[in-house]
Amino acid sequence: MARAQSRYVCQSCGAAVLRWEGQCRTCGEWNTLVETVVRDAPRPRATAIVGGARPVSLSDSSDAGAEVRRRIGIDELDRVLGGGLVAGSVVLVGGEPGIGKSTLLLQAAAGVAGGARGGGATDAAGSDMPAEVLYATGEESTTQVRLRARRLGMADGPIGDRVVVVAETRIERIVDLARERHPALLVVDSVQTVASDELEGPPGSVGQVRESTLRLMELAKADGIPVVLVGHVTKDGTLAGPRTLEHLVDVVLGIEGDRTGGLRLLRASKNRFGSTEEVGVFEMREHGLAEVRDPGRAFLADHDAPAPGSAVAPVLEGSRPLVVEVQALVAPTAAPAPRRTASGIDGNRLALLIAVLGRRAGVGLSGHDVYANLAGGLTVTEPGLDLPLAIALASSLRDRPVATGTVAIGEVGLLGELRSVGGLDRRLREAARLGFTRAIVPRGRAHEATAAITGIEVREVASLADALRAALVGPAGREPRNGR
Ligand code: TYD
Ligand code: MG
Repeated sequence: MARAQSRYVCQSCGAAVLRWEGQCRTCGEWNTLVETVVRDAPRPRATAIVGGARPVSLSDSSDAGAEVRRRIGIDELDRVLGGGLVAGSVVLVGGEPGIGKSTLLLQAAAGVAGGARGGGATDAAGSDMPAEVLYATGEESTTQVRLRARRLGMADGPIGDRVVVVAETRIERIVDLARERHPALLVVDSVQTVASDELEGPPGSVGQVRESTLRLMELAKADGIPVVLVGHVTKDGTLAGPRTLEHLVDVVLGIEGDRTGGLRLLRASKNRFGSTEEVGVFEMREHGLAEVRDPGRAFLADHDAPAPGSAVAPVLEGSRPLVVEVQALVAPTAAPAPRRTASGIDGNRLALLIAVLGRRAGVGLSGHDVYANLAGGLTVTEPGLDLPLAIALASSLRDRPVATGTVAIGEVGLLGELRSVGGLDRRLREAARLGFTRAIVPRGRAHEATAAITGIEVREVASLADALRAALVGPAGREPRNGR
């Protein structure tokens, strides 16, 4: 063994220095340096990655089919992964505590153990056969995992036999076990609880998280075992541990949702083997996460009468249209700096829209607190949300609801001009399917794209002011007191 030395490692970026400093010189964060004993034992790291050092030409086909995928059998998860788990890939699943990471992964383990339901024609023969899964947990005891499995109804029978649970936090032991049993899937819950004997930092420290991930990657690449890691997120929603973690792994998935509500969204923020646009929709039920194949009205709030401040938008998440409800509340304030609170919506976009509404559409909000969110705990970043958000803001200010059965979609420019969005036909078809009868869209080629859609009247508008006129109906109750 080589000598041990102590280094101060930044918990934010992983930089190491010899002496303690209040601020990390590399990333500029304060109070992030933690003393860590590093033993630089010689370890043949570079050679362990598959493919070795033998150069191959691009046309070399000896490894054809290297991207062998195994479908897990949970369609919403398989689709987000890009069609299943790629052999030898490392997937990181992040999310707030209690959002359902362990539940999802135990269900995925059951899926692999049970063999994916038939139907997929893309897989290599036999790759979806029932197979063993190794589930390493550092968070819970084996009893807790078994109790959860019972709750999910997967504890007994052949599936229960093929999911092997080990409560282990030493990464060496987990890797050895995986080499020995060669499971079809290795789950490690979570990467923050495992540690290597060779480093002396505590589990969860930058050094340990990095080292553990590297060991698991070596295992994955060398033995072709797909590894799924659970990662914790910090308060601001980023994955805890070194930022390099996201660069190391092949796929980064996040589970989002409103913990008190049932809906959960699974999204890829990085995927070396597929699109990062797909989203999987689940609902947390009494017996685990259920797939929501048809989200339909899931992201629309329930209210009987049209409510001022609400607008409905047909957004596109990857290839999938979702009809979501944008809600806004504006209230007069005496504070010199009014509040702007956005949840599920980009706050900068909200600020920009407030400015454009004030200057270009006569909707002055400078004296108002503004709150805006999406129903169902969803987060949507697409620019097409501008128009429905602007309509919701104006609707709340003027206390006039949006005409029943109306959806709106479009990007708003700085001059108050509107720009169309892609995939309009798919969006409007979904809105029509859910019973919406009128769509407000930017003027353009909308008619070509949407002529064939029956049941929805497409209203093209040229400006933000026009859109507001088309969307809002007569005052519900009292006349707005504040100006317009
Ligand atoms: P969990 O998977 O433990 O979350 P994480 O691993 O992300 O911390 O999920 C915990 C929550 O899910 C907990 O509040 C209970 C709830 N839950 C259900 O509602 N139904 C179920 O079948 C299970 C297993 C959990
Ligand atoms: Mg957990």
